[in-house]
Amino acid sequence: MKHLISVFNLTKDEVDELFRLFTEFKAGRREVLEGDVALLFLESSTRTRLSFEKACRNLSLRTYFAGTKETSLEKGETFYDTIRTLSSLGFKALVFRVPFVLFPYSAYLDEGISLINAGDGTHQHPTQGLLDLYTAMEVYGSVEGLRVLYVGDIAHSRVFRSGSYLFNMYSAKVGVFGPKTLIPEDLKPFGVEMVFDNYEDALSWADLVICLRLQEERFKERYVPSKESYFSQFGLTLERYNKLKGYFMHPGPVNLNVDIDANVVYSEKSLILRQVQNGVYTRMAVLYKALKDD
Ligand code: CP
Repeated sequence: MKHLISVFNLTKDEVDELFRLFTEFKAGRREVLEGDVALLFLESSTRTRLSFEKACRNLSLRTYFAGTKETSLEKGETFYDTIRTLSSLGFKALVFRVPFVLFPYSAYLDEGISLINAGDGTHQHPTQGLLDLYTAMEVYGSVEGLRVLYVGDIAHSRVFRSGSYLFNMYSAKVGVFGPKTLIPEDLKPFGVEMVFDNYEDALSWADLVICLRLQEERFKERYVPSKESYFSQFGLTLERYNKLKGYFMHPGPVNLNVDIDANVVYSEKSLILRQVQNGVYTRMAVLYKALKDD
């Protein structure tokens, strides 16, 4: 596993091995890797950025961060030139968050450099998909036959596109529920079995609910009438929370009282903070596998 750009390129054996590494790192395994890692984030991030930095430092890798305002993309340089420049600076790995599809750019890297996707547009967020799967595996023991429901802005969600594929790989059943304007037409590649048209039916089906953020920054038109109407139809309200059979997740950041009622966001059925903690160990596993396979 030289690069991690899309979960579609991962085999089940690789995901199993990453889970084994995740579990060992979480249990305190220590490893020392040599080298420098560049983190280039052209979209904002709290969790992914800081947990990648922490994961690198836990493995003794040196980190170099640049955000949107700190690169010469601001001055009109192309991303192709940026990637060629970073490629020649001697980094062992490049961790990129970008607002466009990342995979074509791996062709422009010098040999021996790993490219790791930290979220590219609406396309993929592989480490988030992995950490969601691993968190579910920890909590439920196995996800085989588990009914996983994604709720909300499915159309713009890279978290859904990565996670759904991975849950499917492990024989979970995946359902979706959201505004009709935000449900993509072709859900087959992601292994979706059920598309619900009301929350109550979806809730009585689901063992695990994954709430998603309404990604208004990506809206090209008005897909929902208002945040209030969205919350009443698609939000995890207190009443719906009380009906939940299992747990709920959210990749973050949460829009309080839009995606989830502020009173239940960190309550006992919430796995949100566990997801955040598991993000560090998942990213340690990914970095270790990518750089150790060198
Ligand atoms: N889940 C996630 O990608 O969060 P950040 O945008 O804070 O990194």
